Amino acid sequence: MVEQNVILIGFMGVGKTSLGKKLARKLELDFVDTDEIIEQREGKTISVIFEQQGEGYFRNLELNLIDELLKEKGKSESKVISVGGGLPIYNGLSDKLNALGVTIYLQRPAKELFNRLVNAKEQRPLVKKLKEDELLSYIENTLEIREPVYKQAHFVLDRTQQEVNTILKILEEA
Ligand code: S3P
Repeated sequence: MVEQNVILIGFMGVGKTSLGKKLARKLELDFVDTDEIIEQREGKTISVIFEQQGEGYFRNLELNLIDELLKEKGKSESKVISVGGGLPIYNGLSDKLNALGVTIYLQRPAKELFNRLVNAKEQRPLVKKLKEDELLSYIENTLEIREPVYKQAHFVLDRTQQEVNTILKILEEA
């Protein structure tokens, strides 16, 4: 029985959603993805929101959503929550996400993120227009800026640890 929300954070393409879904199934908890909730509510894809309303508008939706989840905390069942890659950066990981539940940073090297993202960038407005050679340097530079914030998570899991059983052990001890 997990009595806390479990929050997966990390760079675009790291695998938050797929691992989050597997974890939620195992824990018999609901899975939510902040990008998906925003898309449903706005009736548009993240890419269209960026194009029509701009990134600032999107970041504000992310912030409001976390505030909403914080208000719900303890009043409804715990959840496994996957958050968009930029949310911890723009909206303050330590004071919001760490208060929302157990935060887990899924870490992977830039080259590996590149290999995972290169064929999955169409739905991601920040990278979709980048050519392959630009993508790797974008990931390296952005990761360097973001990683100190991601590392404020309660737990950091490298690529060898990103599996359901490892997370279950962590949660037993958390
Ligand atoms: C973003 C990551 C995306 C999405 C948006 C911005 C970012 O989510 O929220 O495109 O700033 O890293 P994923 O990490 O789920 O791709």
